Amino acid sequence: MKPYIFITRKLPDDVLSKIQETYEVSMWDKEDIPVPREILLKEASQADALLTMLSDSIDRDLLTSAKKLKVVANLAVGFDNIDIQTATELGIAVCNTPDVLTDTTADLTFSLLLATARRIVEAAEFVKNDQWKSWSPLLLAGHDVHHKTIGIVGMGKIGEAVAKRATGFEMDILYNNRTRKLEAEERLGVQYTPFEDLIKKSDFIVCLTPLTKETKNLFTREVFQQMKPSAIFVNAARGPVVNEQDLYEALVNGQIAGAGLDVFEVEPIRSSHPLLTLSNVVALPHIGSSSVETRMTMMKLCLDNISAVLERKTPKTLVNKDWQAAIR
Ligand code: NAP
Ligand code: GLV
Ligand code: GLV
Repeated sequence: MKPYIFITRKLPDDVLSKIQETYEVSMWDKEDIPVPREILLKEASQADALLTMLSDSIDRDLLTSAKKLKVVANLAVGFDNIDIQTATELGIAVCNTPDVLTDTTADLTFSLLLATARRIVEAAEFVKNDQWKSWSPLLLAGHDVHHKTIGIVGMGKIGEAVAKRATGFEMDILYNNRTRKLEAEERLGVQYTPFEDLIKKSDFIVCLTPLTKETKNLFTREVFQQMKPSAIFVNAARGPVVNEQDLYEALVNGQIAGAGLDVFEVEPIRSSHPLLTLSNVVALPHIGSSSVETRMTMMKLCLDNISAVLERKTPKTLVNKDWQAAIR
């Protein structure tokens, strides 16, 4: 019997043609609706491999009931939706899609920064809504980006790619990580800065950490209070790194000037959410890596990783490096 791969969202057929020669493959057939939990559990209990989305919760319950499962390939670099410890205990490989989405996500993050600073979305709507009556000196005047200070929290692959873009805008670049990156400091001219200093000095604070126990609720009222009143906060990491109620208050009370958000505590966010009522918030539907080229590459990488594990080889981009394949 061919090993069975279940894919939790509809992917384009041509991505699957090669893998279907070797494996039995089925897919949740809706593009815009996540697979219901009970179907996911049932499929996981029969599957040798799962190709998952960041919106699927691959928790202990699912993993322990998935007796044949050998690999979970997540269509994302982030893997906070997966219980890595349990997967490792059970001998299940977890793979993600780093590197291939770095530049695409950095482009989006910098676009979001520019859009928020220069009020691009508001201005475009202004024209389309026929509100433009005359040119005027301070019409939709925003904030400059060039020559300002950017503070990157989470200077990993995407953080570095954002820093590289910031050099073109002749920005001063501060960063914070748990570990200093001397080589990147040299190459990009970036400056390691303790978190407390970075939030005080930066005109743009850009979050690009993974979501972990340490980064959950990292940006709270106390943090926003220390930012400049002209500061713009950009989150392209994960929603729960921010306390959204505190962010809302900071924006309403003028403690900071604006926010560009690609991610939210609960996704999809609804238009009734207080943050979405503010004109100084630019909100996007978690599209950091969403260019056609990059998403196709991510899908192929997931399938390559699945094939590797099913052929008892080491996958290209493995999260749980201490994983030892269980005999299943
Ligand atoms: P990465 O290369 O692993 O970078 C993550 C960086 O965060 C590392 O440099 C890490 O350095 C730092 N970090 C971890 N914990 C930290 C903490 N407590 N305080 C400060 N820095 C910390 O990953 P990446 O490829 O750049 O991706 C980063 C994240 O972006 C992903 O995990 C994902 O959540 C998010 N993402 C979002 C989108 C989107 O669509 N919006 C797209 C892709 C990725 P240290 O270990 O030295 O601290
Ligand atoms: C997207 O958010 C990712 O983690 O790749
Ligand atoms: C604006 O269009 C200018 O010419 O300054």
